[in-house]
Amino acid sequence: MKLWSKGFEPDKMIEEFTVGADRELDLRLARYDVQGSMAHIRMLESIGLLTREELDVLLEGLSEIAETIERGEFTIEEGVEDVHSQVEFMLTAKLGEVGKKIHSGRSRNDQVLVDLKLFMRDELRKVAEATARLFDTLIALSDKHKDVLMPGYTHLQVAMPSSFGLWFGAYAESLADDMQMLVAAYNIANQNPLGSAAGYGSSFPLDRTMTTRLLGFKDLHYNVVAAQMSRGKTERAASMAIASIASTLGRLAMDVCMWMCQNFGFVSFPDELTTGSSIMPHKKNPDVFEIMRGKCNRLQAVPNEIALLTANLPLGYNRDLQLLKDIIFPATTEMIECLDMAEYMLRQMRVRGDIIDDPRYDYLFTVEEVNRLVLSGVPFREAYRTVGREVQEGTYRPVREVHHTHEGSIGNLCNPEISRKFHATLSQMGIKPEETK
Ligand code: ARG
Repeated sequence: MKLWSKGFEPDKMIEEFTVGADRELDLRLARYDVQGSMAHIRMLESIGLLTREELDVLLEGLSEIAETIERGEFTIEEGVEDVHSQVEFMLTAKLGEVGKKIHSGRSRNDQVLVDLKLFMRDELRKVAEATARLFDTLIALSDKHKDVLMPGYTHLQVAMPSSFGLWFGAYAESLADDMQMLVAAYNIANQNPLGSAAGYGSSFPLDRTMTTRLLGFKDLHYNVVAAQMSRGKTERAASMAIASIASTLGRLAMDVCMWMCQNFGFVSFPDELTTGSSIMPHKKNPDVFEIMRGKCNRLQAVPNEIALLTANLPLGYNRDLQLLKDIIFPATTEMIECLDMAEYMLRQMRVRGDIIDDPRYDYLFTVEEVNRLVLSGVPFREAYRTVGREVQEGTYRPVREVHHTHEGSIGNLCNPEISRKFHATLSQMGIKPEETK
């Protein structure tokens, strides 16, 4: 059964190959498809293509389908191509002839576009909310552990004192940058493509401003060709924002894996959050952070996958675009899962308080010593040489104290400023701090 049936049934193998995973993936679009159809028919009524009575009957029919979707009972039947066909078939089966009127002035090309824009908008909001929950936890942990020192490394060699306050806060502020990318992706998704129809508009006097308002889009994709071109671009922008978050989170996961290693032993987790080995009885492995690292690395490949899938496609709709769903749908889900898992784990992470008492970290404090001499009037280069000589001769004795006071340093983390920055960006998506709790 096809919307485009012309009296013959397509070859079964052709059908399976072209429909692919759509009947399953499209379930995630169902609620948006109904939302888009409701806006479209309201508009059709306003321009005289449906009567008031027809509109009421159709809205009632679509509301019932929406309820089926919300109850989780909606399926795309065997032999039905996609969600757009399923909704139209259900409506026609229920209401008869009037059901066949909803498709005037649109195409599945702009229908799937509008579904995807609405879907991406919601998904990006969920990603933003999960990011905000992790951000708030990082800031809280940074405040809590602000006095716990740890070694800072350069070239993976012991370098200068750092702290858990700095470490947690660093990832928080890095997420504030990622949030800028997310807002950009959100703004790109937040534009109405409906009315572009097959990709070249319609001879009906469609009121696109009205559907923009009804669907709560911030703006229109005015040019109908540009609207069609946004298929792929929207997903690409979203995937780039996700890749940016994933690169931050992947690094955090790596730090945790390394610090759980016995050679470091900086952090640990309750036993039930670790995993074991089938042969080595003593093992408490950081599998959670390894899976997270792997997933975050894989997420960073998504923009490339999308770029290659859409590279140099001829203008207008091409069926290749359908495959974008296979890529971006699991990516948003995986990103949210990783963010939630990171937040869950970090809340339970134990931080060792006496790390820097270990003599192997003595040299962390050489710069502190140099700076002390400078403050007492010795020129920097001379102070540097003096302490260098002490290290060389084995007479250097560390004073395990740090007095860092400038903005963003161990003693002055500026977490309120970082929070303000993050939440100001988040608010551009209309999300208030209390909504992410
Ligand atoms: N499943 C299709 C997609 O995701 C829907 C649009 C189909 N349009 C077409 N002309 N074949 O792209």
